[in-house]
Amino acid sequence: MTRITKVLAISASPSPHSKTAKFVEHVIHRMGTSDLAFTHLRLRDIPGDSLLTGQMDQADVANAVKSVEDADAIIIATPIFKAAYSGLLKAFLDILPQFALAGKSVLPLATGGTIAHVLALDYALRPVLQSMGARHIIQGYFLPEADITQDNGQFHIKESANAQLMETLYHFQCVLGTPAADKMLGHPRPERVSAAWCLPSLDARH
Ligand SMILES: Cc1cc2nc3c(=O)[nH]c(=O)nc-3n(C[C@H](O)[C@H](O)[C@H](O)COP(=O)(O)O)c2cc1C
Repeated sequence: MTRITKVLAISASPSPHSKTAKFVEHVIHRMGTSDLAFTHLRLRDIPGDSLLTGQMDQADVANAVKSVEDADAIIIATPIFKAAYSGLLKAFLDILPQFALAGKSVLPLATGGTIAHVLALDYALRPVLQSMGARHIIQGYFLPEADITQDNGQFHIKESANAQLMETLYHFQCVLGTPAADKMLGHPRPERVSAAWCLPSLDARH
């Protein structure tokens, strides 16, 4: 029986006409295979007050947090604002449990106005994802808005940008082919830290 891998795609723009959200749909379309089940979570759909204060008794907030818990892998897509990821994304990451990404593979994506800020994914977002225990964060992909065209609501990206995107998605797909046997990978689990299987090289030195 084929195992279905659950991929949660989070888009983090406050805009109702978000290029980032359309980019996510484009990626889902490109990656779509029968063994991957995608859900697209648009953070702008969560009422701002409930999100900022982490009101877990609000269904929108609770469902969003649960969707992260349930996912095998996560795509995190943000517009670049002021040389960093969006405040909306930060608000959501802040209400998740500290090790919410343990056991999960993560693909960071961004859209932005200038490639001068291409490294924002690495210097701003990656450390946060790492601190949340992600099992594997693959090389992110930054889509400059100059490489996007939209005709009659159809979203396209330039062929040169597309080639690089395909390479990134191939990388992500390879990682998805080896789902974590241990859903807690990346979580500190204090009771295991001194276990022999965890530190064999240290044990061997004494
Ligand atoms: C307030 C604001 C700040 C922005 N700051 C940057 C920036 O520092 N670097 C950058 O590359 N693009 C910047 N942009 C451009 C957006 O990242 C770009 O338009 C993005 O594609 C918007 O995505 P969205 O349509 O999903 O909101 C900024 C846009 C806005 C509205």
